[in-house]
Amino acid sequence: MHAHAGEPAAAERAAAITSQEQLDPSSFYDTANPMLRMLQQAADALADLPRDKTGRVDWMRALRSGIISPRSDLQGNKPMEVLDLDVILKNTKEMPYVKFPHNSHTEWLACSNCHDKLFVAKAGANPISMDKIFRGQYCGTCHDRVAFITHFSCERCHSVPHGKIKAWW
Ligand code: HEC
Ligand code: HEC
Ligand code: HEC
Repeated sequence: MHAHAGEPAAAERAAAITSQEQLDPSSFYDTANPMLRMLQQAADALADLPRDKTGRVDWMRALRSGIISPRSDLQGNKPMEVLDLDVILKNTKEMPYVKFPHNSHTEWLACSNCHDKLFVAKAGANPISMDKIFRGQYCGTCHDRVAFITHFSCERCHSVPHGKIKAWW
């Protein structure tokens, strides 16, 4: 789907719902298989989940409200190793600082998803920029792909006002 300048919100919303909930099954299933219609449709599976302001599933709210409870591994016997540590990233120019919450991430991601391949485990040690995030590096490895969309949600990362830099949303 293509968003034209001047009509972004509605078109982007429709695109989001298309990509998340209306995947074309014929692109990855054998449509000749009669059992195919027994599979649950993505739109049905996601129907009861809370939404963010762009109409996409708000996975953090889904997790916190207990609607979903992801397993730590295939067997699901072990608890997640949750780390309650916020790191404040201050190289944000005219934007509020970024608060990176380990807690929200380690409730469903093991440390090894990020350390040390994506991020050296040392505050301030990673040369992150928006440019790199938009190109799929650092936070952009997941955000814009499986986690919430960066360019609609500045405030979810840039959540710490400082000095004259206030929240403008
Ligand atoms: C997924 C989290 C995330 C979101 C969403 C996000 N940012 Fe960032 N942003 C970062 C991180 C991380 C840095 C680097 C901070 C550091 O290294 O100290 C950064 C840095 C920046 C910088 C300074 C460095 C540079 O690249 O110029 C600007 C300006 C900026 N962001 C603007 C924005 C704007 C505008 C939006 C919304 C359109 C946005 N950001 C959304 C995480 C995010
Ligand atoms: C989603 C990615 C992600 C996951 C998962 C993750 N971390 Fe991190 N971690 C980061 C980021 C981003 C930073 C900050 C790097 C920076 O400031 O440049 C960081 C920083 C750290 C630091 C340095 C803190 C400091 O003050 O210097 C430690 C220690 C750390 N992580 C340990 C862990 C452990 C232990 C786990 C698993 C329980 C974990 N991390 C899971 C992304 C992650
Ligand atoms: C390995 C994948 C991964 C990486 C890398 C990653 N995130 Fe996330 N992040 C997630 C997932 C998954 C969620 C939960 C789903 C969602 O909210 O869309 C999330 C949620 C968040 C939230 C919402 C937390 C809440 O409690 O509401 C913030 C803020 C955030 N990430 C910031 C960042 C920043 C900043 C970076 C880079 C420094 C980053 N993330 C890197 C996967 C990742």
